[in-house]
Amino acid sequence: MPQAPKIKFNNGEEFPIFGLGTWKSKPGEVTQAVMDAIDVGYRHFDCAHVYANEKEVGAALKKKMEDGTVTRGDLYITSKLWNTYHKPDMVEPALKTTLQNLGLEYLDLYLIHWPFALKEGDELFPVDAEGKAIFSDADYVDTWKAMEQVQKKGLTKSIGVSNFNKRQLERLLANCTVPPVTNQIEVHPYLNQKKLIEFCKSKNITITAYSPLGSPDRPWAKPGDPQLLEDPKIKTIAERYGKTPAQVILKYQVQRGCITIPKSVNKKRIQENFEIWDFELSQDDMTLLDSFDCNGRICPYTE
Ligand code: A2P
Repeated sequence: MPQAPKIKFNNGEEFPIFGLGTWKSKPGEVTQAVMDAIDVGYRHFDCAHVYANEKEVGAALKKKMEDGTVTRGDLYITSKLWNTYHKPDMVEPALKTTLQNLGLEYLDLYLIHWPFALKEGDELFPVDAEGKAIFSDADYVDTWKAMEQVQKKGLTKSIGVSNFNKRQLERLLANCTVPPVTNQIEVHPYLNQKKLIEFCKSKNITITAYSPLGSPDRPWAKPGDPQLLEDPKIKTIAERYGKTPAQVILKYQVQRGCITIPKSVNKKRIQENFEIWDFELSQDDMTLLDSFDCNGRICPYTE
């Protein structure tokens, strides 16, 4: 069975460069999707408390470990600390809730999901009477110190961040003992993040590309929004290689050294997305794909 190549983190841990995303996967669909993905060869699963489906992901992991397809050591599981648990004393309990939901004793990677905090509590999106987000004054540098502690305790092998910009990373690096192993950010041909990727590379921080396919199933998508997978320029490249647009877009990330985590709950597409190890994009096509950047961010955090 083909396996995704591994990338080395700045702490020496290795991690598959390709995994299954679970954002937007419905609880009723994700268990089967994760089991199918394991059968296809996926070993890396990207989760988060806020996706509200970690129990169902955990059920799949349990089944596949019980039936002997994989061991815990074969798997690489990421989760993320939600914004309402940034106060340092909330980090360990939040991680333990995630471990309980996933049915695991440790994570491979735990990320701060966003660089800002929301009002503490179990309301995931606290809002005021006008429907505006209520923020908290918790500082991500203090949150990070608690992340370092949970790693030290063995609750997660590695720690990292998500949605951090250059300025936030610089401040974190200036104040941390353990540097983040990855920064998980939105990356696809319409938002290639060249500058931030170069900065992270210079600091030995890997990039994990989320929404690599342009997340056509994002809840706020509007009719008429650009559709990456339908882009005729990408279709033309795909035809040249006898591959699908999704395969070309995913190979683009892997080839530029970005860890990537496409979401699918469909076995055929889960398989299709994994069949990218038997071809290479030419330098000209990589440059062409780079040129499609149009600052096309689809996941801004809006109140
Ligand atoms: P589905 O889950 O029904 O397969 P992203 O990873 O950028 O968030 O994109 C996920 C979206 O892309 C989902 O709507 C998913 O639908 C769809 N998708 C995943 N793989 C493919 C593929 N190979 N071809 C077309 N659409 C895909």
